[in-house]
Amino acid sequence: MYAFGILLLALLIMNINIELLHDRPDLIPKVVKWCYEEFSYQTPEESYEDWLADFKNQASNINKLPICHVLLKGDQLLATASLVEHDLDSYEHYGPWLANVVVAPHLRGQGIGTNFIAQIMRIASGFNRKFWYLHTSDKVSFYTKMGWEVVERANGVNFDTTILRVANG
Ligand SMILES: CC(C)(COP(=O)(O)OP(=O)(O)OC[C@H]1O[C@@H](n2cnc3c(N)ncnc32)[C@H](O)[C@@H]1OP(=O)(O)O)[C@@H](O)C(=O)NCCC(=O)NCCS
Repeated sequence: MYAFGILLLALLIMNINIELLHDRPDLIPKVVKWCYEEFSYQTPEESYEDWLADFKNQASNINKLPICHVLLKGDQLLATASLVEHDLDSYEHYGPWLANVVVAPHLRGQGIGTNFIAQIMRIASGFNRKFWYLHTSDKVSFYTKMGWEVVERANGVNFDTTILRVANG
């Protein structure tokens, strides 16, 4: 709790803060572009317009899922993450999910993703769900280092992935 307070204070001093996509609709095109470039191979049946519609829906929510948060330094978009009910076809028995986590490519490897996810999961804890899930094809150790546990290997339409979970809070 104390460490989290220090972290928030440090971010405040650096003018870094988390906002709802709801409050920054101007960022929807950039968020969609980042997520589409990273993850659209997992949903080949969905067009860019489908992704745009999905994020517009997320941006319409304030305190219910699906919801999207962005990490900003001043006006600069540093990272984005979504909290959603469903993220992987055929695995609807799991959820809710942390999804669409992206850090600006030129800012990776500096601890931004780790800190941002920690803050997003604190926000997620407010939804009072038992576990949060995510799936990743190639970042399993990144998440296990943060306390997530592997649930099972899984199959998407055209990719292999691993489902992980973390207890709420
Ligand atoms: C995955 C992702 C969100 C991680 O964000 P990030 O800001 O690079 O993450 P961090 O910097 O906190 O940690 C990444 C690595 O850098 C290391 N690191 C952390 N702080 C560091 C620092 N100050 N200097 C150098 N390396 C550091 C971490 O230990 C971690 O190492 P690992 O690769 O051995 O696990 C980012 O790479 C990304 O957007 N990838 C593309 C989309 C994606 O794959 N999203 C996840 C889908 S599940």
